[in-house]
Amino acid sequence: MSAPPRTRAAQVRLTDLAAWKAEGRPIVMITAYDHPSAEVVDGAGVDIVLVGDSAANVVLGYDSTVPVTTDELLVLVRAVRRGLQRPLLVADLPFGSYEVSDEQAVATAVRFVKEGGASAVKLERGGTSARRAAAIVAAGIPVMGHVGLTPQTATALGGYRAQGRQGAQAADIVTQALDLQDAGCFAIVAEAVPAPVAAHMQELLDVPVIGIGAGADVAGQVLVLHDLAGMLGEKPPKFVQRYGHLRESLCRAVTAYADEVRTHRFPTEAHTYPISDEELAAFRELVRSK
Ligand code: KIV
Repeated sequence: MSAPPRTRAAQVRLTDLAAWKAEGRPIVMITAYDHPSAEVVDGAGVDIVLVGDSAANVVLGYDSTVPVTTDELLVLVRAVRRGLQRPLLVADLPFGSYEVSDEQAVATAVRFVKEGGASAVKLERGGTSARRAAAIVAAGIPVMGHVGLTPQTATALGGYRAQGRQGAQAADIVTQALDLQDAGCFAIVAEAVPAPVAAHMQELLDVPVIGIGAGADVAGQVLVLHDLAGMLGEKPPKFVQRYGHLRESLCRAVTAYADEVRTHRFPTEAHTYPISDEELAAFRELVRSK
């Protein structure tokens, strides 16, 4: 008898996000960059998983998100896709993969959907990015926007620092968000902006605002998995809440392994494969003649 088919949780749809915003049920988004993490965040019941270009710093060891390439991110998107059932999978368009033209933006987005299995893509900033977003949406691919602190252009923003703390800059950020909504984006990430500015943005927008360092009065929250799990060595940004201490746990595990190897306590009988006396004798006979 064949095994019964695995019951699959219904995948989160864009209409679910709109409904949850309308109901006031917060949307939970998180990053993931590999297969086991994807299984963990899916099992924990998050709604949206982002393969962020933060993978550049977090798992690939670059010192910013700028160098990471489409090909590098595609490997991660595929791994995450294979580990997810319910959450909506969003792939970040890396810097340099969408700015040049609408054609370039659509071609890159198509790769993330077709080769990576993403359901949607994310891009940063308003202005020309809003035009790129409109082109991608017109090609049938859902787009998430990202305003405020946009790490791909952090140098131009004066570094990794809160944005929109001056009235004119805050108004510009909200304008970018409105432009992205007009371009057809289904949600907007607002990163590192004062809470009242993000709350006002959410009031003006119909689509959900997903905040990261943007306060509680928005439709959803996103954090980087490695930040919230305590995987990274450096001090996390102010907006991160640590829910675990994985780095210490992993370090303890590896130290214990090294210690047991050095003191001949690992491996034990339980970790080895048996061979019968007869086969062992045959083997010794055979190697003796070599
Ligand atoms: O790349 C990323 O992880 C992001 C989130 C911080 C929203 O863009």
